[in-house]
Amino acid sequence: MCGIFAYAGTENAAPLLIDGLRAVEYRGYDSAGISVIDSSGAIKTIKRGDHKASLENLSSEVSGGELAGVVGIGHTRWATHGLVNQQNSHPHESISGVVSIAHNGIIENFIELKDELVDTGVQFKSETDSEVLAHLVGHSVASGTSLREAVIGASSRIKGNTAVVAVSTAEPDIVVGLRIGNAGGIVVGKNDHAAVMASDTIALLPYTSEVIYLEPGEVVEIRKDGVQLFDLEGSSISRDAVVTVQNFEAAQKGNHPHFMSKEIAEEPDAVQAAMRGRADFANGTISLPEISLTLDQIRSIDRVILTGMGTSMHTGMFGASVIESIARIPSVCENSSELRYRNPVLNSKTLVIAMTQSGETADTLAAIEYARQAGALQGVILEMEGSQATRVADFTLGVKAGQEICVASTKTMIASMMTLLELAVFLGQARGVIDANRVKEIVSQMAELPSLISTALDLNDEITALADRLCKYEDLLYLGRGAQLPMALEGALKMKEIAYIHAEGNPAGEMKHGMNALLGPGMATIVCAPQNDLYPKMLSNISEVKARGGEVIAIVSENDETIERVADHVIRVPECPELLQPFVTLIPLQILAYRTALALDRDPDKPRNLAKTVTVE
Ligand code: F6R
Repeated sequence: MCGIFAYAGTENAAPLLIDGLRAVEYRGYDSAGISVIDSSGAIKTIKRGDHKASLENLSSEVSGGELAGVVGIGHTRWATHGLVNQQNSHPHESISGVVSIAHNGIIENFIELKDELVDTGVQFKSETDSEVLAHLVGHSVASGTSLREAVIGASSRIKGNTAVVAVSTAEPDIVVGLRIGNAGGIVVGKNDHAAVMASDTIALLPYTSEVIYLEPGEVVEIRKDGVQLFDLEGSSISRDAVVTVQNFEAAQKGNHPHFMSKEIAEEPDAVQAAMRGRADFANGTISLPEISLTLDQIRSIDRVILTGMGTSMHTGMFGASVIESIARIPSVCENSSELRYRNPVLNSKTLVIAMTQSGETADTLAAIEYARQAGALQGVILEMEGSQATRVADFTLGVKAGQEICVASTKTMIASMMTLLELAVFLGQARGVIDANRVKEIVSQMAELPSLISTALDLNDEITALADRLCKYEDLLYLGRGAQLPMALEGALKMKEIAYIHAEGNPAGEMKHGMNALLGPGMATIVCAPQNDLYPKMLSNISEVKARGGEVIAIVSENDETIERVADHVIRVPECPELLQPFVTLIPLQILAYRTALALDRDPDKPRNLAKTVTVE
């Protein structure tokens, strides 16, 4: 949540700050701003609070070149405290104008600190919590403290997770960055002419592929000729840079109109990447060398709890169903924000697996930390290398889908589902509940998946016509059973987040217990009903919707010969073994949401009020 970029080098900083912000804009696009130390040594700040147009407008404003200077900080905001407007945009300057800061996180005790500062005569310009940091740092710098000491001192007064960058007129050559807790990372890099830091590695790639991830409780100073790390006591820390596997080209839209369409199109490759080095198609085996648990530990597991938020929670629900059915371990999926606070009974026989694309979600990280403290075994399945989540659990399985930029997650979900399927097979085999023949059978089915997904992607045109119909509805119902339920929930979530249509996902068997009261011509129902044992039950559910005048879109297997007699519209996905059906029904659900968003003239890459990484509760 919120994107930060900072530059200290030899070139004009303003356009480089704008470029850096473009790379992290997916983290928040409510506002954008930069502060540059100009040639006279003064701080010049320009900011825009124009919602999705903020960064473009800011870019036009600085393109004249009058903001000259070689050191600066920038910020894209996802609003937590205060309206989306110019005053509440970052960076925030201290009253004396000696300091400017950009902040990511929430300052939980900001009211108390603000009252204290107001009592000393400070007049606040914004409604944000972050502005208190600017004044706390500004006071210290004005009284002669170094910028680094001032940032450390200010951060010691605040409660809550924080990532902050600051510049000061007193030390015009440096930018200081600090990280406390898990409110988004700070990644640092340098080349021969500049040093940079950002919320995400992707913004550093035009400069270097060798990066340093700041740990919580660390401070960094960047200047044109170097980078220096410190702890909060001021002792210098030495850490080698690591070479990132992220690639700048891969994070561009290419020929696609949106990141979302690009990322959906990449799903066959994402699934392939999740199998690479793990599934051996020649011998029909699965290996997961990343899992460091001993055989005894694996055999002692008596319960698996998967946890995550949003799409990652739906992925975890799929994981619970495959782990239980293949590895025969009782498995559930729980929302991380619930798990972390409900004092669950966990012990060394419980395996808690956190699902997360960003590796930064505050609730998910807190849930896995809770599991660690309770003595449970912990695993993380994630996309973003280098993120905090890679350092918190007994094992980490990378999803390898490639960087996902669109706020609405698509390819990470499908690649994570594949990773979970591999994990289920791995656990089942280690526990001796499935034999080598069954593993071989599953692996040979998995080999078909990329081409099955490619076929499902061809449905684009027919789905576009359906999307035009869905535009007129204010309410949609998504139904599924078994492993199709998480797909139905995900279809509804996608529709809500990018098309802004109210959509509910429900277990189809639950309808008679309440939802039926809403059925009628005012609500369309999307049903996930591929051929499997639950299909006859889904047919009955469709008939119930039809009997009450509701329009039905059914996602079914290619050779279904019955469905046309009950549903209004049919989307046929490729025939495949039941284990793979959720993968192929997911695709049309994602495309349907994307096409509906376009038909309603919404920007699917920038859904209102949402951000890609949710680093605060
Ligand atoms: C929806 C979406 C979100 C995320 C959720 C968790 O399309 O992307 O629901 O899944 O915010 O984020 P991660 O996976 O980064 O932990």
